[in-house]
Amino acid sequence: MTVWQAYLDAHEARFSAELLDFLRIPSISAIPEHAPDVQRAAEWVAARVTAAGLEHCTILPTGGHPVVYADWLHAPGKPTVLIYGHFDVQPVDPVELWTHPPFAPHVEDGCVYARGASDDKGNMLVPILALEALLQSTGRLPVNVKVFFEGQEEIGSPQLGAFLPQHKERFACDLVLNADGGQMSLTEPIILVGLRGICGLQIDVKGPVMDLHSGMYGGIIMNPIHALVMLLASMRAHDGVITVEGFYDQVRPLSAEDRTKIAAVPFDAEATKKDLQVPALFGEAGFSPVEANWARPTLEVNGIWGGFQDAGTKTVLPSAAHAKITCRLVADQDPDQIVALLRAHIERHTPPGVTVSLQVLDSHAYPYLAPADFQGNQVVREVLRELYGREPYEVRTGGSIPVCTLFAQHLGVYTASFGFGLPDERIHSPDEFFRLESFRKGQGAYCLLLERLGV
Ligand code: BES
Ligand code: ZN
Repeated sequence: MTVWQAYLDAHEARFSAELLDFLRIPSISAIPEHAPDVQRAAEWVAARVTAAGLEHCTILPTGGHPVVYADWLHAPGKPTVLIYGHFDVQPVDPVELWTHPPFAPHVEDGCVYARGASDDKGNMLVPILALEALLQSTGRLPVNVKVFFEGQEEIGSPQLGAFLPQHKERFACDLVLNADGGQMSLTEPIILVGLRGICGLQIDVKGPVMDLHSGMYGGIIMNPIHALVMLLASMRAHDGVITVEGFYDQVRPLSAEDRTKIAAVPFDAEATKKDLQVPALFGEAGFSPVEANWARPTLEVNGIWGGFQDAGTKTVLPSAAHAKITCRLVADQDPDQIVALLRAHIERHTPPGVTVSLQVLDSHAYPYLAPADFQGNQVVREVLRELYGREPYEVRTGGSIPVCTLFAQHLGVYTASFGFGLPDERIHSPDEFFRLESFRKGQGAYCLLLERLGV
C-alpha cells in the first residue's frame, strides 16, 4: 500500500467529520441573506487548504461572492495544475420535502444527506484531502498545484468574467482539474468533454394599475397572465422546436461522428420514465434524448406566478404576471446574442393591452466543448481505466459550469473533469446525498492522478 493510501485510511473518520462540518454552513449563493454564510464557507475552505499544507492562501474579493486561492509550487519542471470546485450551494426549497434538515447532515447506509453533499462540497473536499495525504505522507506534491474554489457557481459565476482577466498571472497553469461532476455509476467511469451554456430572463407583464373585478372588467382589458402564456407559447412549437427567430442560427450541427459517439453511450429511456414517473419523454423532434440533452439548445420556463393562488375562487383580473425562463446553449451560441434574440422576439410578440419589461438573469455562460484527447483528459482516461478496470465513456452533460469556458478564454487551458458524484444523488433537489464510498475512492484517485500528471 502507498504511504498516501495509508494516510487516507488512518484519517478517514476525521475526514468524514470535516465533511459534515463543511455541510453545516448554509452557503446559498442565490439568497442575499446568506451572503455571510458564503463568506464563512470561504473562510472554512481557506483554513482547510492551509491545514492541508497549501501556501499563500487568499480569499479574493470579486465584487460578489469570493474565490479562494492557494498554491504549492515546489515541483520545478513539473506541470502546474489548477484544481477547481465551488463551495456555494443551491437553495433548499421546498424545504418540507427534506427527510432531514438540509444543513443538518445526516449519515445513513453509507451516504451523507445534505444540501451540497454531492454538488459540490463533498466533491471539492476530495482533492483537498488528497493534497493533505500526499503532503503529509511524502512531504511534497508530484506537480505544482493551485486551487480555485468559488462561491458563485450556482448563480452562474456572474463576477468571474471580469475577475479572471485581472488575475491571469495568479491562475496561470497547464491544466484545470474540475472537481464538480462525477461518473456514470459506481462501476462506469466517464470523460466529460462538453457542457452547455446558459442565459436567462425574467419577464414582467404589467396590465391594469391594480387588480380588478373580473366581471366588471373582464372582456375589455387584456389579462396579463393570458398575455404571458401567449408570449411563452410563441417561443416553442408543440414538437419542442424553439420558435424564437434566429435561435438556431449559430448552433453547430451534429456531425455523423458526434452522433455515433453519442449513440455509443447507453441511455435507458424506459428506466428514466419510470424513475421520474412521467408517462413519456419529451424533447426536440428529430433528436434522440441524449442528443437533445447534450448537443441541442433548450428554452425552459423555470417559474411562473401572478394572480390568485389560495384555496377557493377569487374573481380577479390580475394586474401583473411574471415568469423566469432560461435557455441551455450549445456550441457556437453566444448568451448575449440569445438574450438579444429573446428581447426582439418578445417585443414582436407582446399581445396588445399590456406592457412587458425584461430583466436579464445572472445565469450566463458560454457552452464548453473540449477535444476528447487533450493531454489532461488522456491522463484522466488512463487513471480511470486503472481504477475502474474499463474504458471510460466519452460524455457531455446538459448542465453548465460557467468558469470552464472562462478558463479556456483567459488562461488558454482546457478543463479535465475528475469528480465522483453519481447521477442519482439528487443534486439541486430535496434529500441530496453523497456516497461516502465515492468520497474515499475519490481521495485515492486524486493522489494517483496527481502522481501520473507528475511523471
Ligand atoms: N455541478 C453542476 C453542473 C453539472 C451537472 C455538472 C451535472 C455535471 C453534471 C453545477 O453545480 C450546476 O448545477 N451548475 C448550474 C450553473 C448555472 C446556475 C449557470 C446549472 O447547470 O444549472
Ligand atoms: Zn449545481
